[in-house]
Amino acid sequence: MNFTVIEAVGKKVKILDQTKLPAELVYNNYDDFRDIITSIKRLEIRGAPALGIAGAYALAVACEAEVDVDFEHFKKLIPDIANEIKNARPTAVNLGWGVDCALRAAYDSKAENIEQFQKILWDEALAILNEDKILCDKIGVNGEKFLKDGDTILTHCNAGALATGGSGTALSPIYAAKKVGKNIKVFADETRPLLQGARLTTWELMQEGIDVTLICDNMAGVVMRQGKIDCVIVGTDRVAKNGDVANKIGTYTVAVLAKEHNIPFYVALPYSTFCQDIERGEDIPIEERAPEEITNWGGVQTAPEGVKVYSPAFDITPAELVTAYITDKGVTPGKRK
Ligand code: MRU
Repeated sequence: MNFTVIEAVGKKVKILDQTKLPAELVYNNYDDFRDIITSIKRLEIRGAPALGIAGAYALAVACEAEVDVDFEHFKKLIPDIANEIKNARPTAVNLGWGVDCALRAAYDSKAENIEQFQKILWDEALAILNEDKILCDKIGVNGEKFLKDGDTILTHCNAGALATGGSGTALSPIYAAKKVGKNIKVFADETRPLLQGARLTTWELMQEGIDVTLICDNMAGVVMRQGKIDCVIVGTDRVAKNGDVANKIGTYTVAVLAKEHNIPFYVALPYSTFCQDIERGEDIPIEERAPEEITNWGGVQTAPEGVKVYSPAFDITPAELVTAYITDKGVTPGKRK
């Protein structure tokens, strides 16, 4: 990939501003954790695994500012800061997971002073980033086996390199298949309202020389009916203990369509996206976005002033619609009959 989603540069965090893609490749450098929170809320950085990495780095940045106190007092300040970061976006479990990994590493360490504590946080954030690269590659290898030479995959939103620290989740099997010489084509749903499919997935796949065709979300059914799709692969923001899947709004519709057309529906994810606390999909917190994301586009008003808007950013696909979960550890069958 010829871009980096997130990395530390000295004591700053450099983030690729995905709101500017595909027009411009712009990086922002942050040395204030509240600016990283804003960056997360604005979707400059987005996608569940990338949010886990961003969360850990945000904590490291935050702790650089808290130095005018003694070490015991310093340690008492951290949990509130951690919660502020975790609450930036509610649905992706990885955000809280990344923050908690960093917290655990620091509190369980033998750090004797603020400097040592801070260093552990930076090291842990880097470790999460590096681990994610490996997890993505493993998902790729495990998922590639489902893809035959000449297959066409439908995907929704962006669960590629732009959403992770490595080669992606849903897109990683496609990159792995290409590496072993398979010719794979992709249909990308545009993914209203923020167009992660149109702006990010097509851009990323084109950079990698993958044959990609952009469709509007409401075209998924017709391309399936026309026999153009061999399987669906999506990423996820959180999988409940019963296997229900939270992912970008519109995923549920695609899963229903896939079942109707007898097309396999795969969910690709690292272990960190399995939620340890929530039993069922309906209990997963779903982020609601600002009405303007639907009533305006590119500064142009596209709906009447004052219209009522409902804008959940994610939906739940019941486990009964999932053919299999492709993870870094292997493949787990879903409940779809
Ligand atoms: O709102 P976004 O762009 O953060 O939504 C991202 C998705 O829904 C992805 O499919 C999901 O996070 C998995 S990313 C590997």
